Amino acid sequence: MKLLLVLSLSAIVATATSVSAGGHGGNPAVTARKAHMQLYQHNLMILGNMARGNTEYDTAAAQAAADNLVSLSTLSQAGYWIPGTTNAELGDETRLLPAVFEADSTARQIGADLAAASVALAAVAGTGPEAVGPALGPVGAACTACHRAYRVSDN
Ligand code: HEC
Repeated sequence: MKLLLVLSLSAIVATATSVSAGGHGGNPAVTARKAHMQLYQHNLMILGNMARGNTEYDTAAAQAAADNLVSLSTLSQAGYWIPGTTNAELGDETRLLPAVFEADSTARQIGADLAAASVALAAVAGTGPEAVGPALGPVGAACTACHRAYRVSDN
């Protein structure tokens, strides 16, 4: 049983390594950073679609998505927000701007704002779609604030 677990774990690690090394020789910090963002997006969309009435409100799914946002926003991301992995060094592979590592960077504060907004959202997410919309506002505002300041703009 133990051996099986070890074997299947090494299979997962081997797959993960070949994926991140695959094709374009991706920087692992960039891959992890983008994956973290994709998880934010996925969970936010579940709630956004319910709040807009695009999908039917589902108490358990809403609560799970909000709880995931709390978990994601309180995870340490220090391992993949590292100097040397911005678009100044890596070019088009990443949209992270070097300003994020300057002394006056507000990224940490925005991250804390996102965590607080996610906690507030999780407190009401299970009560119905009416509460979800307004509680999503500050969450989305934190996402946008960081993208405006520290992500290469869309245009
Ligand atoms: C602390 C700053 C910060 C916060 C907070 C933040 N983002 Fe981002 N986001 C970034 C940066 C920087 C990038 C570019 C990452 C890269 O290219 O390496 C990014 C990229 C993305 C991407 C594109 C990922 C990809 O695959 O290229 C999505 C989607 C995204 N963010 C969604 C969100 C959502 C949704 C939230 C809020 C729940 C959020 N982000 C909060 C800074 C932030």
